[in-house]
Amino acid sequence: MNLTQKKDRIKLFKADQELPYHLLLLADETIEAIDKYIHDSEIYIYERDQKTIGIYACQLLDGESLEIKNIAVSEEYQGEGIGQKLLSHAISNATKRGFKNLMIGTSNAAFQQLYIYQKMGFRFHKVLKNFFTDNYKKEIVENGLVLNDMLLLKKDLQKEDVEVLQQS
Ligand code: ACO
Repeated sequence: MNLTQKKDRIKLFKADQELPYHLLLLADETIEAIDKYIHDSEIYIYERDQKTIGIYACQLLDGESLEIKNIAVSEEYQGEGIGQKLLSHAISNATKRGFKNLMIGTSNAAFQQLYIYQKMGFRFHKVLKNFFTDNYKKEIVENGLVLNDMLLLKKDLQKEDVEVLQQS
């Protein structure tokens, strides 16, 4: 066995643990905003050698749909495929549980996120006009653009065969 091999796993976050706001804050602007959904979300964490380096939080919208409200990877581990592994996990988990749709929202300026979500099979669903200007006190600028609209993307889980990944 290679002892230097990294041990990665995705696991359910236990309610009695302290929430890793430092990660959640990479995907959302304020703790106040996060607290509006995080306490009734199902949370999964990505661990490497028992260190939490990624997270996603899913909220039940209705009997048919879930929404990923927050997904984040520690800055030093971004770009090595962990975000896509978390999305695959969310997709296979929701599919196995019989949900029809998985939603995810992001801003008008989030080019990388829009790329990844579409790469993972999410399609544009709705534009929530002025979501960021209406819901956040301060103006937020990303990639040189002021955030204004929220783009909601949807993945239809029943339309295609989705690879069911092994979960730990
Ligand atoms: N434009 C388009 N694509 C880009 C850009 C860019 N500027 N920069 C990188 N990419 C591509 C990479 O090439 C790669 O694609 P590839 O695999 O086809 O080559 C992809 O983006 C990165 O994929 P991963 O490595 O799987 O992503 P990562 O592990 O970095 O996780 C995440 C992605 C979660 C968005 C992470 O970067 C992050 O935590 N960002 C800050 C928090 C955030 O913005 N979260 C999402 C907010 S929306 C929400 O939470 C619902």
